[in-house]
Amino acid sequence: MFAEVPGGTDAALEDVEMQLLLEGIYGHYGFDFRQYAPSSLKRQLRKRVQAEKLESLSGLQEKVLHDPACMERLLRVLSVNVTAMFRDPGFYAAFRAMVVPLLRTYPVIRIWIAGCSTGEEAYSVAIVLEEEGLYERTRIYATDINEVVLERARTGALALKDMPAYTDNYLRAGGTRELSSYFAEAGGKLRISPSLSENILFAQHNLVSDGPFNEFNAILCRNVLIYFGRTLQERVHELFYNSLNSFGVLALGQKESLRFTPHEARYQDLDARQKLYRRTA
Ligand SMILES: C[S@@+](CC[C@H](N)C(=O)[O-])C[C@H]1O[C@@H](n2cnc3c(N)ncnc32)[C@H](O)[C@@H]1O
Repeated sequence: MFAEVPGGTDAALEDVEMQLLLEGIYGHYGFDFRQYAPSSLKRQLRKRVQAEKLESLSGLQEKVLHDPACMERLLRVLSVNVTAMFRDPGFYAAFRAMVVPLLRTYPVIRIWIAGCSTGEEAYSVAIVLEEEGLYERTRIYATDINEVVLERARTGALALKDMPAYTDNYLRAGGTRELSSYFAEAGGKLRISPSLSENILFAQHNLVSDGPFNEFNAILCRNVLIYFGRTLQERVHELFYNSLNSFGVLALGQKESLRFTPHEARYQDLDARQKLYRRTA
C-alpha cells in the first residue's frame, strides 16, 4: 500500500486532477484551457463537479471524455458568456468621441470583435457606426471560441425583458435615437434589423491556438483576457499587434490593461480609463 506523499495536500491533489482534466480536454477536443487563470477556472470546474453530481475533478474528467454533451455543458461554463448591449456605457461614449474620428479617415473600415459572445457588443458597435454614418463602409468580424453563443449571435435576437436596461446603457453611451428603432418584435423577442447585421460576420476563432486572419483598423477584446493566465495574455497581445494596421486601435475591458505588459511600449493611450489604446506605428 502507498503511504500518502509527505506534504501532499487535498489542494495539491486537486491541482494534479485539474491539470489532467485540462490535458484530457485539449487532447480529445482540442480546446486549450491549460493557460487560463487557475483560480477562476478551478471555481467553475468545482461548480461543474457538483452540477454533474460527481465526486471530484477526476470524475468530471471521465465523464467529459466519454460524453460530448457533458463537454458542451462544461464549455458553456468555462467560457463565461456574460455580455450586454452598450456594456460599460462610458466605453461607448469614448469610442464615439475618440475612435470614430480615426475610423472616418479610412475608405473601408475593418473591425475585429474577439470574444463576442452572443453578439450584443458587435450590434452596439454597429449602431454607433450607423449613427455616425460609417456603417455602410464597415465590416465587423465578430469571433468566439464557442459555437453555441455564435449561433445565438447570428439570430440577432434579444429578450424583451433586457430592453429597459439596454436602453438606459444606450442613452448613457450618448445614443440619441430610440434603441428599439433598431429592432423588430417577433414572438416575444426582439430581432436586430437586417440592415444592421448585414456587415457583421460571426465566425469561430480560438485566441489560444488560431492565428491572424486579416488586418484591422480596430480590435475590441473586452472581458476576455481577464480569464487568461499571463503567458496566454501575452500570446494574444502579440496576435492583436500583428492583426492591427499602423495606428490601429485596441480596446480592452474595464478590468484589463496594457500596463506592465511587454506590449505597453508599442501603444499610446487614447483613453486609459476606458482602456482604449492606439498602435504607435
Ligand atoms: C465575458 S464574455 C465577453 C463578451 C463581450 N466581449 C463583452 O465584453 O460583453 C467572454 C467571451 O470570451 C470567449 N472566449 C473565451 N475563451 C476564448 C478563446 N480562447 N477564444 C475566443 N473566445 C474566447 C467566451 O466564449 C465568451 O463568449
